[in-house]
Amino acid sequence: MKKLFVIGIGTGNPQHITMQGISALNQTDVVFIPTKGEEKAGLADIRMQICDRYISRAYELVEYPISPRNEATADYTQRVLDWHDLIAESYAQMFARAAADATGALLVWGDPGLYDSTLRILAAVREKAGLDFEIKVIPGITAVQALTAAFGIPLNTIGNPVTITTGRQLARGWPEGADSVVVMLDGRKSYESLDADLHIYWAAYVGMEEELLIQGRLADVRNEISKTRDSARSRHGWIMDIYLLRKAR
Ligand SMILES: C[S@@+](CC[C@H](N)C(=O)[O-])C[C@H]1O[C@@H](n2cnc3c(N)ncnc32)[C@H](O)[C@@H]1O
Repeated sequence: MKKLFVIGIGTGNPQHITMQGISALNQTDVVFIPTKGEEKAGLADIRMQICDRYISRAYELVEYPISPRNEATADYTQRVLDWHDLIAESYAQMFARAAADATGALLVWGDPGLYDSTLRILAAVREKAGLDFEIKVIPGITAVQALTAAFGIPLNTIGNPVTITTGRQLARGWPEGADSVVVMLDGRKSYESLDADLHIYWAAYVGMEEELLIQGRLADVRNEISKTRDSARSRHGWIMDIYLLRKAR
């Protein structure tokens, strides 16, 4: 493989992909799609739909499983690093099987630069496996943008910074000095134990047909969010949610 496009596809709405992404797909010989393991079937379907809808040339589709994380490793960072090594090995084998002059594409959820390790893993593949392919990143709409657009709100307050963090980090306490905090990857519902006066803008499946939106003073809506989250998760078998917390003036 001589070149790999890493294409941000947005957050589940096939219309999120940019013209630049579509153009890259139409220069691609082989599209690599994760279909098993951690990746939910629904998310693989969205990637397939994007290929069906926008690629107007012959291409090969290579499906690959993502190895699960070893939950027995106690240290979180080590667990993630080990997992990345496993993925890097399977990428190296998969890329080595592609023709030497082929152009490949990976379709990354949202934008490849935000809470996604594809680019870190690819750097390791090139370094450790000695594969010398060019990488071209095509930006995509992030869940953060889809969230603020869904509510029709700006991300920041006037002249102030924004913190983007994870549920795991938020559970350790409110980021010092922050007034707008976006929380991703929060399977533990960290919002449940925060300051009651915060304003929350919560979205699940944002941009998708299943989209759910709830906003209000945290004390007033947190139970509703948790109930909605639990029932949506059991209905669909998976959930992706994100929220913005804003300090009351
Ligand atoms: C591994 S991160 C990937 C982020 C992605 N690279 C981006 O640019 O948005 C996954 C997290 O993104 C958020 N997310 C992604 N898609 C979403 C969606 N359609 N609705 C709500 N949250 C979403 C959730 O917080 C989820 O836990």
